[in-house]
Amino acid sequence: MSALEKPALDGRAFRHALGQFPTGVCVVTCRGKDEDIGMTMSSFNSLSLDPPLVLFSVDRRAMSLPQWEAAGGYAINVLADNQQAISNRFARAGTNKWEGAHFERGFADAPVLTGVAAAFECRRWATHDGGDHVLFVAEVVRLKSAPDRQPLVFSKGRYARLEQTTDVAPWPLDIHY
Ligand SMILES: Cc1cc2nc3c(=O)[nH]c(=O)nc-3n(C[C@H](O)[C@H](O)[C@H](O)COP(=O)(O)O)c2cc1C
Repeated sequence: MSALEKPALDGRAFRHALGQFPTGVCVVTCRGKDEDIGMTMSSFNSLSLDPPLVLFSVDRRAMSLPQWEAAGGYAINVLADNQQAISNRFARAGTNKWEGAHFERGFADAPVLTGVAAAFECRRWATHDGGDHVLFVAEVVRLKSAPDRQPLVFSKGRYARLEQTTDVAPWPLDIHY
């Protein structure tokens, strides 16, 4: 095989290896045409500090994709470790995800959920082709965070809780409170 020839990739092995990279869990929301849209996502990540950009990706099969593409802004709600039930609720397609949900309206009328570990209110910045997902890049316009709340973790297809060490990572950002 030449150096640039693509080796066959086993889809299951790919997913398992990705599961070794823990993430937080977010409910990303936007105001759709006549309804609120919300989806559990683990694809949230930081992208740029200046300008302040973040990213998330939406499956092309998601019923709500056209609403995400039309929205002028989004709220990225980082769930706290006592919000597993909210994560499950917003991961179920075709159900009323909003029944009993507590929120306020943020930028572009996107719902900002109550009791979250952090929330980023964002303006649409760009979308890109991401294979079977669409990659959304968003500019953060307002944020809040609750350092007393612990984030919910998702790893190996399961929820997990953080067990923190006392070691501080050698990273040049002032976020290690
Ligand atoms: C922990 C977790 C993380 C998820 N992350 C994503 C994600 O990043 N992008 C995505 O499109 N779907 C993700 N999903 C699945 C969606 O939440 C689910 O398919 C979606 O709510 C369906 O939305 P719809 O009603 O628009 O079809 C995730 C589900 C779970 C449980």
